[in-house]
Amino acid sequence: MIYLDNAATTKMKQCVLDEMMPYFTENFGNASAVYSLANKSKFALDKARDRVAALLNTRAERIFFTSGGSESDNWAIMQSVQMMSSKGRHIITTAIEHPAVVNTCRSLEEAGYEVTYLPVDQKGFVTADQVKQAIREDTVLVSVMFANNEIGTIEPIAAIGEVCQEKGVLFHTDAVQAFGQIPIDLSELKVDLLSASSHKIYGPKGVGILYLGPRASGIRSLIHGGSQERNKRAGTENIPAIVGFGKACEIAKETLSQRMQRERELRDYMKQKVLATIPHTTWHGSDGEDRLPGNLNFGFRFVEAESVLILLDQRGIAASSGSACTAGSIDPSHVLIAIGADEDEGRESIRLTLSDETTKEELDECALQLQEIVSMLRSGSLLYEDFLKQNA
Ligand SMILES: Cc1ncc(COP(=O)(O)O)c(C=O)c1O
Repeated sequence: MIYLDNAATTKMKQCVLDEMMPYFTENFGNASAVYSLANKSKFALDKARDRVAALLNTRAERIFFTSGGSESDNWAIMQSVQMMSSKGRHIITTAIEHPAVVNTCRSLEEAGYEVTYLPVDQKGFVTADQVKQAIREDTVLVSVMFANNEIGTIEPIAAIGEVCQEKGVLFHTDAVQAFGQIPIDLSELKVDLLSASSHKIYGPKGVGILYLGPRASGIRSLIHGGSQERNKRAGTENIPAIVGFGKACEIAKETLSQRMQRERELRDYMKQKVLATIPHTTWHGSDGEDRLPGNLNFGFRFVEAESVLILLDQRGIAASSGSACTAGSIDPSHVLIAIGADEDEGRESIRLTLSDETTKEELDECALQLQEIVSMLRSGSLLYEDFLKQNA
């Protein structure tokens, strides 16, 4: 199988699993207990926290383990607005956030908060100036993703952080797609809260972190219960997963620059190849250093993504679309709509996301299959025939 859906999840590395294994069996102690078996878990927890912090160039005490990116986003948004409730009830975010952010904001709207969804340009960028203009007296939180999960656009997080700090508004970034894929230096960025997840960087599923900077350190827990994670996140720590996450962070830090360079080269190679061989193809998103190294997103006019994905799967290739499937109907991608695509184009986007093991040969094979599939699906399309006649 050729796996090109690494933004959805990655294959865990064997060395990550090897480090996790003893914590399922012999070192199974509860980190909150007092005996020496528990100390092994406590030590492993500290070591993993150090490794996560090192990847972000921050202090370990600012890192809190969670069950993944979704929980981190929910926690960051729900509890920072709660902390700031005496100031106001206005939140600023963008039109292209992940559902973990969008739906959290929607639930707050139902509870009486007002949310501004900033539009993005045709490549998916929001600007610091837009954020500045949108901030009001009663704005309590700005939440802008570090990099988009569908089109890979990397947002100007440094500049947005400056604006938020200057205006005294908390700044959260959902860095689930950027974490471990591009450098993130929290000693330089004015970010107050940052969400990240393990399974996007060759670690286990079901574990993530929320970073809390000094201005956000007072937020309350989302999950109530015991005193784990310094009273911020209750529940017995998932030590094996946390250990695996720590190992994945260590590897990500060591390999970051070479992975980035390699994936960028492969991405640009594949982009050229597909655009050169499949007519009427749209490239969605940005380019160069403003795009995640391993992200490609194409729109094949008059061809629904769903059909392409099924045929790719039959040929042994796993890819995805930006659209969310709901029973019987396919909603167009909200990200594609936000960058100016129409409803049809919003259903035509195919996302390919690379891993550190993706090869040029795999991409050649995928490009060839795409060429055949798109041409086959278009050959039965009256709409496409009309389009060709009009453009002849
Ligand atoms: C941008 C973004 N945020 C949040 C999440 C949710 O992360 P998790 O799967 O760890 O809950 C994802 C996962 O796809 C994502 O891409």
